[in-house]
This record gives sequence, C-alpha cells and structure tokens, in this order.
Amino acid sequence: MNNFDVFPKKSLLFAPMEGITDEPYRIALMKTFPEWDQFFTDFLRVPTVGKITEKMIIEHYGERILNNPEWRKKNSFQILTTERAQTQAVVEILESLKMDHLDLNLGCPSKKVNSHHGGAYLLSNHIALKKVLKIIRENFSGHFSVKMRIGYRDDSNFSDTLKLIQDEGVEAITLHARTRDQLYKGVADWSYIKKAVEEVKVPLIGNGDIWNADDIEKVFKDTGCHSVMFGRSALKTPWLAKIYKDYIEDGGHIDETYLLYERKKYLELYFEALMFEYRQIGWPENLILKRFKSFSRNLYDDYEDFEAIRGSFLRSESLGQYLDFLYALKG
Ligand SMILES: Cc1cc2nc3c(=O)[nH]c(=O)nc-3n(C[C@H](O)[C@H](O)[C@H](O)COP(=O)(O)O)c2cc1C
Repeated sequence: MNNFDVFPKKSLLFAPMEGITDEPYRIALMKTFPEWDQFFTDFLRVPTVGKITEKMIIEHYGERILNNPEWRKKNSFQILTTERAQTQAVVEILESLKMDHLDLNLGCPSKKVNSHHGGAYLLSNHIALKKVLKIIRENFSGHFSVKMRIGYRDDSNFSDTLKLIQDEGVEAITLHARTRDQLYKGVADWSYIKKAVEEVKVPLIGNGDIWNADDIEKVFKDTGCHSVMFGRSALKTPWLAKIYKDYIEDGGHIDETYLLYERKKYLELYFEALMFEYRQIGWPENLILKRFKSFSRNLYDDYEDFEAIRGSFLRSESLGQYLDFLYALKG
C-alpha cells in the first residue's frame, strides 16, 4: 500500500480542535475558504466499555460530509485511544464506512486523558503504542496518520518513537514541536520538525506556532517538511491558507495595510457562513452566540484597541448585537 502522496506537497491543514471543528464548522470553512487542503474532526475518545455504534461515529464525523465524496477526501477522522479501549471495533466501523483518512491522537496533554493512558501518554509506552498502531493498521485500509508531540516528559525517545510509528505502516506524521509537559508554554521548537524530516520517509507535517505567511515560508525552508498544520493561528486567521496562497502568487509580498481591511471582510464572511451552518442543524441563537464568543479569543488581536473590541463582542447579549459589532468594525 502507498498512500504517501495523498496530501499534495505544501498542503495547509486545519488542525483538529475540540469544541471547534465539528461538522458545521468544517463545512462553513470548506465553503468559505476552500484554500485549506485538509480538515480533521476533533478526537473521538474510543470507549473502553459500552457498545460502539455506527451512529456515534457518523455523528462525530458528520453525515453530510460522509455523503459527499469531495468533502470526505478533505476530512480526516481523529481518534484518541488506549491499549485497553475498543480500538478494533471503532476502526472496523471506519473501514466499513470507507473512511478515507484516520488520524491517531498522540499529543493530547490533558491530565485526565493521560491518566487513562491515552493521547500523549502513548509516546512514553512503546509497547502499548505498538499494539494500538498494529490494531489500526491491520483493520484500516485508508490513509493512516498520527499526530504527536516530541515526547512525554522530554525528547529522549523521540527518534525511537518516529521509527516505531513509521515501521508500523503509518503514512503521515504531524509533529507539534513541544513535549507533553510543555503543554502550550514557550514557543514550539521547529528544529525537531527538521530532525523528524531527516529521520522518516513518510510525509512530515509541521505544527506549532506557525502564525502567518512568513512563518509558513520559514518552516518549509528551514525544515523541509512536507506540509503544515495550523491550530490557534487558524482560529486567529481562518483565511490564513488564502493569505499564503496569494502571497506565493505575489512572489512573497504582503501589503500589511491591506490585512486589516481583509480581516473585516473575511470576518463577516466567516461568521455569516458559520451562522448559516449552525442554523441548518437547528441550533438556537443563544447556543450560536456562545460559540461565537468562544471563537473571539484571538480574532481581534491585530486591532489597536483589541481589548475593548473583544470586550464588546464578549458582552453581546444577542447574535444580532454580535453581528452589529462586527459590521461596525473599522476596515
Ligand atoms: C482549543 C483547542 C482544541 C484542540 N483540540 C485538539 C484535538 O481534538 N486533537 C488534537 O490532535 N489536537 C488538538 N489541539 C491541538 C492543535 O491541533 C495543535 O496541535 C496545537 O494547538 C498546536 O498548534 P498551534 O500552535 O498552531 O496552535 C487543540 C488545540 C486547541 C487550541
């Protein structure tokens, strides 16, 4: 099997994010900013006990996406599992649904998840990791990737982990260049991305603190990675993939004065598209407003008076008021 070329080189991947990348969000983004090459569900926690149904899996992924062959290619299903959890049952369902991509979470730093031996914990237990990788590979014929950190406590088994993952037939590796213990502190160290590129043959996807077009250029140039993934930066600039593709076309030039003007224009498109998709699935206005507020954390950071601006959005009492603030923003 060779699924290595499934993402074109220099793909821009929108990271899996719990509480954010649900089906309506991913559909809104695919429609509004088609420049993103790939999306991911947030992690589905594979249960240790209890029945697993196809319905659970489809709900997590999104039925509309499942039924659209183009969208399916662009949406990976992420799982978070442990040695004891019912991985095989979940993977068999993913296989029977002919899921194109499956991604294994080896990066989640949550204390609760790690104490149950899932997420980044598996980086510290190679026996358990190998078992989990084998179960997935033996039962899944689509594209299989993992998303990892450089280690659990430290980087001491980084190279061994990469080798183990590659030897078990994984077809792409995303590396968030921090250890689990670093959580989100400091700045991601891209030199580990370069090291991983040198050590594995499969496509290496760089991740961590890639905030703008210059960063993207730099990470490609300095590390030679195949593709890049964006988390908080994609939440701050959900049209970052478009900015980068325009920047390449313009020979690496960005008109800084244009960025705030664009921000206003694209923020409007972003929220209108999200509102449409959440309404489509019947969400009440107060739930949509709550979501919009949760998206407001970094969106306004580039404005001079960003704290006041963010404050008004966070205090909005209705969806209408939130949108009024948006339309009144300076462009
Ligand atoms: C709100 C939030 C939720 C996240 N949820 C997930 C998740 O479900 N699965 C996962 O692999 N990583 C998750 N991550 C980690 C991101 O995918 C990404 O690896 C991390 O934020 C580093 O990239 P960044 O510096 O571009 O943010 C999450 C991050 C954030 C900020």
